[in-house]
Amino acid sequence: MTGARRSVLLAAVLVAGASASAAAQKVFTADELRVVERIVGTYFESAKSLSAAQDYETAKVRLIVAREYLARSWTFWMQHERRDAASMVTAATAALDALDDRLSEVPLDPARVQAAVQEASAKCEACHAAFRVEHPATGAYDIKPGILGEPAGQGAR
Ligand code: HEC
Repeated sequence: MTGARRSVLLAAVLVAGASASAAAQKVFTADELRVVERIVGTYFESAKSLSAAQDYETAKVRLIVAREYLARSWTFWMQHERRDAASMVTAATAALDALDDRLSEVPLDPARVQAAVQEASAKCEACHAAFRVEHPATGAYDIKPGILGEPAGQGAR
């Protein structure tokens, strides 16, 4: 997909999604990051299952939203001087772009699409292993204590 086509599609998607527009700015706070990660998760999961169901055109539209929101989280990590996390955002964003390319191939190769889905998931998971913690009692997610420089435990909700 060309950059211009991507922007037009994205604009259409963002106008359509009222909840998405709430987080349409750069990401500066941990609360904003949470909202953005949820959007990334929702749209990536949707792109994944649509790809598996071979509805590639719709998968692509969902993927564009996931990609756009993920890219916004880069600012958050740079603000907190976590270049390591920011570069994992860059790597994951590149993996989503690679998936977009596979979804745009003519003829499209379902096996290559599935491989790209797996590679993108691996990038998400690698960053979660490094920077995300799950509260055992509630199953809620948070940034690992200490990552943003606060004393351990302060990040817990
Ligand atoms: C920079 C590292 C990083 C990358 C890359 C990343 N995430 Fe996350 N993600 C996090 C952190 C940190 C949290 C915990 C933040 C929170 O939820 O408070 C999180 C939380 C989440 C959540 C839980 C949100 C909630 O609280 O309910 C989902 C879903 C999610 N990410 C999906 C994804 C997907 C899908 C990708 C890949 C396309 C991805 N993330 C890439 C760091 C990352």
